[in-house]
Amino acid sequence: MFNLDMAPADPILGLNDAFRNDPAADKINLGVGVYMDDDGVTPIMRAVKKAEKMLLDSESTKSYLAISGLPSLPSLTQPLILGEASDLPGSGRVVTAQAPGGTGALRVAADFLRKAAPNATVWISTPTWANHAGIFQAAGLSTDTYPYYDAARQDLDRDAFLTALDKVPAGNVVVLHACCHNPSGVDPDTSTWEEVARIAGARGWLPIFDFAYQGFGDGLAEDRAGIVTVLDSGVPAFICSSYSKNFGLYNERIGAVTFVGETADEAERAFSHIKVAIRSNYSNPPSHGGSIVAAILSDAELRADWEDELTTMRRRIFAMRKGLADGLAARGVSRDFSFITAQKGMFSFAGITPAQVDALRVRHHVYAVRSGRINVAGITPAQMDRVCDALADVLAND
Ligand code: LMR
Repeated sequence: MFNLDMAPADPILGLNDAFRNDPAADKINLGVGVYMDDDGVTPIMRAVKKAEKMLLDSESTKSYLAISGLPSLPSLTQPLILGEASDLPGSGRVVTAQAPGGTGALRVAADFLRKAAPNATVWISTPTWANHAGIFQAAGLSTDTYPYYDAARQDLDRDAFLTALDKVPAGNVVVLHACCHNPSGVDPDTSTWEEVARIAGARGWLPIFDFAYQGFGDGLAEDRAGIVTVLDSGVPAFICSSYSKNFGLYNERIGAVTFVGETADEAERAFSHIKVAIRSNYSNPPSHGGSIVAAILSDAELRADWEDELTTMRRRIFAMRKGLADGLAARGVSRDFSFITAQKGMFSFAGITPAQVDALRVRHHVYAVRSGRINVAGITPAQMDRVCDALADVLAND
């Protein structure tokens, strides 16, 4: 019936299959963005384990959730992503639905936009997460790109970025990484976010924040600062947030899609269509991940423990960044890799070519995304020397 060519392997998740099939005992997977502890384990966080035990005893039904998910999740999510002191949650201008991970949140927003603004082009950064274009295109929207990263300076190409945003037509949509830009690890500073806010308001385009790494950059409050700056200027926005990374709930598929309207009336109408988009997609979300997050965020002790462990994770990632930069310098690598310590989040955009990524895999059994993205959060202290040796080798010889 079908005459299809093979679809290409996913550039990120496809690496897991290749890694699994590699018989080498000392293989290292720095592809998919999953945090590992010093022992190379992706841990279940302490607060999550405690919450799950509580839920096992207290859960009394497996009946459906509402289309928009657990009733308590919006009021727990909104202060986390908008600020504990924000007036927005009480204003009626903010609506939130539970979603199956950050990817699910983006797809719900995309399905909504296909209906509400079918002719809008969705602008994504160069480079960006390998799944962004696919999500919006699968919903039937067209995508285009704006410049973001200056590979020569390993920094934000601020002028090109802001100039491009200033040319995005009214009614279009711009996907912004709220923090820990994936894959570059390079984020706008405060003055740049102020400019983004001004331009969004002046030009009349809609920001969609992809907020997958809150707490992995500088802290829960610091990492939402860009969102707060843009919303303070009064523009409407979508926020697609994820609990995969900061709660380590990857396989529970838990995130949220939040819309901040210009008025409460606009938000209420939009929410009715967001629910239609969910119902015709997956009907209503699974419960377990949301119940865990809600149990932790609503209990002072569990929440404090979660924040402590998240801080430990963030510090470990930074220690691995430093180890990588120092290790490469100690091996006499001619390029200056100190920029790795300035990048935020799980990833480092190491500036290696696809051929060097292939050589890493073939000669050293070290797996990275072909764009040159390395999951620094997946390196352990025991692996650091091998990773630095491997990188030094391919930088010198490929
Ligand atoms: C990543 O970028 O590695 C993660 O967001 C996992 C994914 O779904 O691609």
